[in-house]
Amino acid sequence: MPSESNVRNTPEARSACAQKKLQATAGPANGGHPAAAAGNRPAPPCTLVIFGAAGDLTKRLLMPALYNLVIDGLLDDGMRIVGVNRGERTLDDWRDDLHVSLKQFAEERSPQRKLDDDAWNWLAKRLDYVAGDFSEPGTFERVKQQIGKNSVSNALFYLAVGEGFFKPIVEQLGNAGLLDEQQARGFRHLVIEKPFGNDLASARELNAHILQYANEQQVYRIDHFLGKDTVQSILAVRFANALFEPVWRREYIDSVQITAAETLGVEARGPFYERTGAFRDMLPNHLFQVLAMVAMEPPNSFDAEVVRDKKAEVFAAIQPLCCEDVVFGQYEAGPAGVAYRSEPKVAPDSRTETYAAARVYLDNWRWAGVPFYLRTGKRLTTRRTEIAVQLKRVPFLMFRDTPVDALTPNVLTIRIDPAHGTRFDFNVKVPGPTMQIGRARSSFDYSDFFAERANVGYETLLYDCMLGDETLFQRADGIEASWAAVDEVLHPSDAPIPVYGYAAGSSGPVQSDELLARDGRAWRPLDDEPAKR
Ligand code: BG6
Repeated sequence: MPSESNVRNTPEARSACAQKKLQATAGPANGGHPAAAAGNRPAPPCTLVIFGAAGDLTKRLLMPALYNLVIDGLLDDGMRIVGVNRGERTLDDWRDDLHVSLKQFAEERSPQRKLDDDAWNWLAKRLDYVAGDFSEPGTFERVKQQIGKNSVSNALFYLAVGEGFFKPIVEQLGNAGLLDEQQARGFRHLVIEKPFGNDLASARELNAHILQYANEQQVYRIDHFLGKDTVQSILAVRFANALFEPVWRREYIDSVQITAAETLGVEARGPFYERTGAFRDMLPNHLFQVLAMVAMEPPNSFDAEVVRDKKAEVFAAIQPLCCEDVVFGQYEAGPAGVAYRSEPKVAPDSRTETYAAARVYLDNWRWAGVPFYLRTGKRLTTRRTEIAVQLKRVPFLMFRDTPVDALTPNVLTIRIDPAHGTRFDFNVKVPGPTMQIGRARSSFDYSDFFAERANVGYETLLYDCMLGDETLFQRADGIEASWAAVDEVLHPSDAPIPVYGYAAGSSGPVQSDELLARDGRAWRPLDDEPAKR
């Protein structure tokens, strides 16, 4: 008899993953939950073990995501959730804490503005708790007993902990036999949060360590950007429309800008940010993932390996960045607040960058010579995550004798956050007797076409880990290739990269503008809003 872990690799299971993407078929009933009857397919039953149960990630994102999945009828009645944390807390303490934080979440973010008691009760009665140290074998024996209480052996180990705990937890799970799928006769998946290493050497070491205890198909390396519908939609925009793909290449595209601008500062994350900085925190992970979605070749299916192979080709094609390709900045006091160096737990002479911009080239037939400009920063003038694909200018000849000074190039903007949708800037004739060209904009906003769904960005990711669909997770080779591409920037062989100041609330350091000006280009303004006449 095949083990359940083998069952998920059958053609039927793979096609279930693919069908899930389209959400087209009705699944089995889920304990009578109304959403199940509406056509959703619950994930297979399992025990979700959360290491770091008392942490911020669990409260702010994982539990709200599970709650939303319950409301959508996407969790099976055979699900159990076991929290693991150091300290002396009890199950009652944990449950009470979660109740308070979920209530607050529902009041702030759910469309009905109050906690759905049925969904909460569904979750509450499935919770269990293990108090124990992450490097103590006894903790893992107790985890094993908890998993044994469930009638199914499937388990998902979620490492919602600081990066320093990844190795000891994986080692203890391995030593306790908890990652052995053959013996378990069920799936045993390991979910690892960011940051996955902090450079190429540490990422390689972490991969090698994990792969001593689990095989690659068991490892789900999270990049939460891939949980965003708007990021997943990049593939739909590109490959489900005949309009874009023919021009999606160097013959027609001038350049691509990928922006992740934030208004928030470092908040209470000083110690983490001091050793990480904007570049490590965002570039080789979130922004490279977006870049891969923009630049990859069409996969011939949504099969996880096919999609990840195509992305791996992009990472392998990134020309290693050198120090001249990047600009670092750090916010100083400005209209939006105090300087980074005055933030809590930040060194008064810190040289950590809170802004990073980079110019990236891909060495392949489709993209050779097309610059991808990436930028991210804290305490900028606006919050905006978007991709702007700028097409080449058209030949000017036919407009030479008309009152047209310049033709602005077409730009397709894919808006990821906080606006969700696309915009297309194009040229039309201004009404009147002469040929004058005016710029027009066609916009699509998700909320105009689709019902709003409560979503913290982790729902799809959690659901996929249970379903065994690795499409949205990073493979070891992809992570290592990304770190390899930025290794020179992280460990410059010459002088350290200068860190320029910018005012909190501005668009970043002027030196970042110069990076593009050298190429005769400019960043898209961070505060431009829909062009109206
Ligand atoms: C996290 C970074 O991975 O992503 C944070 O550590 C950053 O510094 C965050 O703020 C941005 O994510 P989002 O989804 O808020 O754009």
